[in-house]
Amino acid sequence: MVSSFVIGLLSIISPVSAGVKYPDCANGPLKLNLVCNTQAAPEARASAVVAAMNNNEKLANLINNAPGVSRLGLSAYQWWNEALHGVAINRGITWGGQFSAATQFPQAITTGATFDDVLINRIGIIISTEARAFANNGRAHLDFWTPNVNPFRDPRWGRGHETPGEDPFRNKKWAEAFVRGMQGTGATHRVIATCKHYAGYDLEHSGSTTRFNFNAKISMQELVEYYLPPFQQCARDSKVGSIMCAYNGVNGVPACLDPYMMDTVLRKHWNWTDSNQYVVSDCDAVYYASNVNGGHRYKNMNYNSAIGASLEAGCDNMCWATSGTQPNPTNAFNARTFNQSTLDKALVRQFQGLVKAGYFDGVDSIYRNLGAADVNTQLARDTALRAAEEGIVLLKNTDNFLPISLNQSATQVAMIGFWANTADKMLGGYSGTPPFGHDPVTAARNMGITVNYAAGPLTQSSFDANAAVSAAQKSAVIIFFGGIDNTVEKESGDRTGIAWPSGQVSVLQRLNQLNKPIIVVRMGTHVDDTPVLALNNVMAVLWAGYPGQSGGTAVMNLITGLASPAGRLPMTVYPAAYTGQAPYTNMALRPSGAYPGRTYKWYNGNAAFPFGHGLHYTNFSASIPDFPKTLSIQEIISSCRGKSVYLDQCPFTTVSVAVTNTGTWTSDYVVLGFLTGNFGPQPYPIKSLATYKRLSGVRGEETVTAELEWKLESLARVDGKGNTVLYPGEYTLVVDTPEKTRVSFTLTGEEFVLDEWPQPPA
Ligand SMILES: *[C@@H]1O[C@H](CO)[C@@H](O)[C@H](O)[C@H]1NC(C)=O
Ligand SMILES: *[C@@H]1O[C@H](CO)[C@@H](O)[C@H](O)[C@H]1NC(C)=O
Ligand SMILES: *[C@@H]1O[C@H](CO)[C@@H](O)[C@H](O)[C@H]1NC(C)=O
Ligand SMILES: *[C@@H]1O[C@H](CO)[C@@H](O)[C@H](O)[C@H]1NC(C)=O
Repeated sequence: MVSSFVIGLLSIISPVSAGVKYPDCANGPLKLNLVCNTQAAPEARASAVVAAMNNNEKLANLINNAPGVSRLGLSAYQWWNEALHGVAINRGITWGGQFSAATQFPQAITTGATFDDVLINRIGIIISTEARAFANNGRAHLDFWTPNVNPFRDPRWGRGHETPGEDPFRNKKWAEAFVRGMQGTGATHRVIATCKHYAGYDLEHSGSTTRFNFNAKISMQELVEYYLPPFQQCARDSKVGSIMCAYNGVNGVPACLDPYMMDTVLRKHWNWTDSNQYVVSDCDAVYYASNVNGGHRYKNMNYNSAIGASLEAGCDNMCWATSGTQPNPTNAFNARTFNQSTLDKALVRQFQGLVKAGYFDGVDSIYRNLGAADVNTQLARDTALRAAEEGIVLLKNTDNFLPISLNQSATQVAMIGFWANTADKMLGGYSGTPPFGHDPVTAARNMGITVNYAAGPLTQSSFDANAAVSAAQKSAVIIFFGGIDNTVEKESGDRTGIAWPSGQVSVLQRLNQLNKPIIVVRMGTHVDDTPVLALNNVMAVLWAGYPGQSGGTAVMNLITGLASPAGRLPMTVYPAAYTGQAPYTNMALRPSGAYPGRTYKWYNGNAAFPFGHGLHYTNFSASIPDFPKTLSIQEIISSCRGKSVYLDQCPFTTVSVAVTNTGTWTSDYVVLGFLTGNFGPQPYPIKSLATYKRLSGVRGEETVTAELEWKLESLARVDGKGNTVLYPGEYTLVVDTPEKTRVSFTLTGEEFVLDEWPQPPA
């Protein structure tokens, strides 16, 4: 594989000692310092180590590649480590020896489609366990810049596949499960997670606008209802150790220089004052906030002024990425762009995180025993396979063509396309080296299937399809692997269109003329499936996203019925014309005039497939036997006393949904609950995801009850000022898309503000 070749080179260049080197609290220079006292409060411990540093030492340690303080026995520390869907190849991490591979789960867009937060939590536990094992062996550090929870607003975004999808509630729940898995629930964190990118980041480039200078104009209503919920979850409710501020500006201020976003909202309003928190800038974000070419030129600041403004606004560590952009905090300090107290606070916050991760706790502390035996375990492999099986979505299945048995000796199967036999294309951005890569062709051959493989185009329109046609002529069934992969869809790689690559459509049209059944397996995120659905011999279409190290096995297990599809699309599949109708830089969600709006909540055109779409090898019916018809807002609020600190987190009446598998095939089923109705500020969204639950292994003709739990956050709406309000009115909970059942109820009484939003400076 290409990536193992790259790793081979990296391990020659980087010394093994590049990873974490824990301070020696037993014998080192800090042994009598309070930081080594495991009984003391984290903030006091962190303050004690910062108090032992002089100003030159402090100033040198405000950057991601921190030199440490050798006088105090603090080794160099690289804050930049990545692990979006498994320990990744990046500068904080040194691969090699027993640490030459790590479990590579599906990308977040595919695990987003599972709607299974027990699974997301388990993935977080496994990734952080492997990450900590790398760190303990001097091959990584304790801070990992994951997850990416920006809602996937526009289908062109090259990094949309790093996120769980377009819905803020789904992303919020995904973030909750993942961060809890990464950090753990005990007093000491397994690793420190970083929710990124705060906020409104979902564009790499659009014409001359780039992520380094884009000013995202977002109304206060849509900022609070759409762009911020995953960050509120991370900061306020999950107490994530770190938040990354974004490249872009929000309403005129670069995110990493914005005291309103980082102090007023993040730290004060969300009470993100726990003992383990720091803000890190996206890499070079502070540089590009200043008056350099291609940047924001915010207030025409020079780099030193931007550094000071960033620190004063609440960013504690500056990541830089490219030569020539290294910040010089000493010069910035000497130019009096920030204060002594700001400097000290930034360092205390950084070290609090390390204290919380047991950095100063000695060899016997929790998680210090994790090692090579905890990486690539059988449980990790099984979970990676299961995640892919759960996340892959069955988009179309004419005449119940799937599942199909393909391993009879007389059956030959054509497997055609750019990723049919290429395992590293299944991984997506920010990947590491998996212990193996089970591409679809390998997986099929391992199952005893006779495969006729042929390559296919990625984007070329002048592709010679003769080999593909002759492979298909020899075969009874054709499986075509197409869509977009991460050489096209990637960081800094936004697209301008979302049509199916025309070269692939041409090959499919030729194959269609053979009058043999075709199964299409699409990867990557958005392309408009319409021309593929129009082909009469395309019997089934599966969407796999980036299914990870066992993606090929998962695809073949689903096609042959060894596993059952139950994933749901975590984003709208827009028609190709959408990108001509919705300017990429328009952040608005609500439609207006010719602007069609964004996401399933607001888009007023016809989607190729809607958010939540997904078929099974059986059918399900659902009913809601009983639910109160009328509830009083004032009674709901008074019943919340003592149940939650924040009223939006107060539980609402659970909905019991009776789900029946009306067929014979055992299958998982995701119960999706969408809220619609006439309440709150107009215009009303079409519907909003309010609650969901994945049921596992429902047998044929079995009825099970899904208890749908939800909180007031799901009923509330956001007003023009950003206040979160519970409104009187008519509410309807719709189960599934297309609808299977619904229940309506009325909230009576006076509207009630659940969260009063702090206003920006005038
Ligand atoms: C804010 O956070 C602190 C520290 O976690 C906690 O003690 C306090 O109760 C929180 N306040 C609110 C209103 O949640
Ligand atoms: C430093 O502190 C003073 C007093 O708290 C404050 O007015 C000032 O804005 C701070 N920042 C800078 C860059 O001087
Ligand atoms: C063929 O597939 C079926 C399930 O589809 C499985 O039970 C059987 O073991 C497979 N046979 C071989 C030879 O792989
Ligand atoms: C599910 O229901 C549809 C519509 O009634 C039907 O066409 C299809 O055959 C059913 N699928 C299965 C697997 O029973």
